[in-house]
Amino acid sequence: MSKSHALTNWHPASWHRLPATQQPTYGDAGALERAVASLGRLPPLVVSWEVEALRSKLAQAQRGEQFLLQGGDCAESFDDCESDSIARRLKILLQMSLVLLQGLKKPVIRVGRFAGQYAKPRSTDTETRGGVTLPCYRGDNVNRPGFTAEEREPDPELLLRGYERASLTLNFVRALIDGGFADLHHPEYWDLRFMRHAPLRDAYQKIVDSIAESLDFFESMSGQRVHAATRGDFYTSHEGLHLLSEQAQTRYIERQKKWYNLSTHMPWIGMRTAQLGGAHVEYFRGIANPIGVKVGAAMSAEWLQELIAVLNPQNQPGRLTLIHRFGINDVEQKLPDMIRAVRETGSPVLWVCDPMHGNTETTAGGIKTRRFDNILGEVEAAFRIHEESGSLLGGVHIELTGDDVTECIGGARGLAEADLARAYKTQVDPRLNAEQALELAMRIARRAGTNRRISKV
Ligand code: PEP
Ligand code: CO
Repeated sequence: MSKSHALTNWHPASWHRLPATQQPTYGDAGALERAVASLGRLPPLVVSWEVEALRSKLAQAQRGEQFLLQGGDCAESFDDCESDSIARRLKILLQMSLVLLQGLKKPVIRVGRFAGQYAKPRSTDTETRGGVTLPCYRGDNVNRPGFTAEEREPDPELLLRGYERASLTLNFVRALIDGGFADLHHPEYWDLRFMRHAPLRDAYQKIVDSIAESLDFFESMSGQRVHAATRGDFYTSHEGLHLLSEQAQTRYIERQKKWYNLSTHMPWIGMRTAQLGGAHVEYFRGIANPIGVKVGAAMSAEWLQELIAVLNPQNQPGRLTLIHRFGINDVEQKLPDMIRAVRETGSPVLWVCDPMHGNTETTAGGIKTRRFDNILGEVEAAFRIHEESGSLLGGVHIELTGDDVTECIGGARGLAEADLARAYKTQVDPRLNAEQALELAMRIARRAGTNRRISKV
């Protein structure tokens, strides 16, 4: 590996000398400076040993010993920082992980797209409606979604409000998990009131019954209770987009002799900010967290190889998770070349499929949506292509909510285009509702079970 990629000339602000895309333009430089300085003095949201624990689990996932379930909102909203909404999001992730655990027969690493997913990249800087042009909405950390000049003005104070909400969310998630919410004996696992589709509910019931039976068997044999989850079993992630705020939460940990982004366990670089020679890649190369990189159809094999060289020069296990999001139409053609290209680098990576972002479409009525069949189709294609290429799909990355929204078309209850208007709530991208999300997990688990039976035959 070339020496230029070693961690030289890096510090948390070294990205300032490079072009930074997708950053808001603030009107009041003084207010921005003050907000970022306050953020820099506040305590971290996560600690380095949690980050290191996650990295070692991701290293296991790279070897096929664990599976990553990463999911949550496209854009979290400050308004959704309330107890029911947080508990529902946590619950659907836990239920999905239970189904995957049973189907894949391996531990599932649970990473929420939450407690900080407040900044969004946009394809244009401005939005025009009825002849009026205003800055785009860039997430609750930056401005507000309403279409008025006042609401769209980037406001530095929102960075502090975002930090507070991330910390309130994380505090509640940690308390729920400490209180037994993620324990296999907890009734939340079995509560399926939101499932209106009876065959799915029955199928889920069968899965939990079989787990309960094994659990009973083990516990009566061993005389011990199984505690399947502790607070360390839930992690957070968000797109590391707003560089001033990410920098403010970057701390040197003397004991580890490393810099960490302590606003989240696992930040990722989005598709729109993965330029070589860009500020985001510069920032990410210096932090010790495990990091995700979104890989889309516009990325070439050479680009990805160079990113790996810059971001993981020591070929450290667990460091890199590649989240491919090609879409059902491009996955067959693009993925095999990318797998080959990555193998040539010698870096271990965790391959994860994001079947959401390559499958976004707009209906004739102008509503952004995604089809359940395309989402499932891409995940299934990804499992198969990795297998055929001698590689391994080690996780999925899903946009979902615990609520009964109507944003994606399809699924067992057959949501149609005409249903979208009923409960379309997302601020940015369409999410699977709880029922669709659990159905997706069940379809993945069932596929794994079938494959196991075939390979035994
Ligand atoms: C996202 O994950 O919400 C996102 C914007 O994804 P991507 O960078 O892959 O487009
Ligand atoms: Co999104």
